[in-house]
Amino acid sequence: MTKKIILDCDPGHDDAVAIMLAAASNNIEILGITCVGGNSTLENTQLNALKICTLINRTDIKIYAGSNKPINYDLVTAAHVHGKSGLDTDGDPIIVDSSYKIQEENAVDFIINECHKYIDPIYLCPTGPLTNIALSLQKDPSIKEKIKEIVFMGGAALCIGNITPSAEFNIYVDPHAANIVLKSGIPITMMGLDVTHKVNVNDEIIKNIKKNNNKSSKFFAELMNFYSRFHRQLYEIDESPLHDPCVIAYLIDETIFKGKLVNVQVEENSELTRGKTVVDWLGVTNRQPNCKVITEANANKFFDLLSNELSKLT
Ligand code: BDR
Ligand code: CA
Repeated sequence: MTKKIILDCDPGHDDAVAIMLAAASNNIEILGITCVGGNSTLENTQLNALKICTLINRTDIKIYAGSNKPINYDLVTAAHVHGKSGLDTDGDPIIVDSSYKIQEENAVDFIINECHKYIDPIYLCPTGPLTNIALSLQKDPSIKEKIKEIVFMGGAALCIGNITPSAEFNIYVDPHAANIVLKSGIPITMMGLDVTHKVNVNDEIIKNIKKNNNKSSKFFAELMNFYSRFHRQLYEIDESPLHDPCVIAYLIDETIFKGKLVNVQVEENSELTRGKTVVDWLGVTNRQPNCKVITEANANKFFDLLSNELSKLT
């Protein structure tokens, strides 16, 4: 059965790949894309979402603007990874038609209204800081029953962080939002650095996907060539973790991944460990499990899926 999703993102090169994968899949219906400040300012992330949907010829997808800053902290961006625009590449600029605009309805109201619109609960897929999702839950807690599952990219369970030694970027940016989501009681799946570092893109994979020879696969190659620069420098290997598409791949084919249902809480205020996902992997506390933490992935299956789906787009 097709899964109805709201993709809440901060594009972002890997967010762009998540959008493309979701747009291509017959198993997914995108109800809308909601944007949040994260990798870049909200102004940039919403413009980038318009650009991505323009490039893949899917201007039927409606895009909504959400929060421009985290609940309590000032916005921290990731220009060091995604460039000044949040979606820098060496390719041609993407020109968005003046008729393709951000919707007037705010992302938070859109999320709430969509949750109430359908009989069957829907999926929320955040691939940026969790601000929009947390604000929606705060504004209308009754949407909890209308959400089948929240599958988010963020956190680091058994591995080091990428923005500080203790924290992954999305959770670091808005740890208060992350805790609101984790305490909501909604079924939650966490695609953190543990698993995204098992889904690594390299030159060979980029070249093979480019061979699909359609516009979207060539765009994938442009995105990944830029995105790889930072990761090569940081990790000193020729591979880059492809974080955000893991969320969509999980919804398309759960069998690619493995994880464990455990308790996850987030450190909000410590100067040293702000944004750390404290994961009770061994069950040494009596805190109730609230999140399925994914740690394993079959990378070959993942990249076969991605390549096939991208080949279906423009
Ligand atoms: C996450 O941070 C962002 O830079 C990526 O888009 C991804 O969502 C990885 O830590
Ligand atoms: Ca992201």
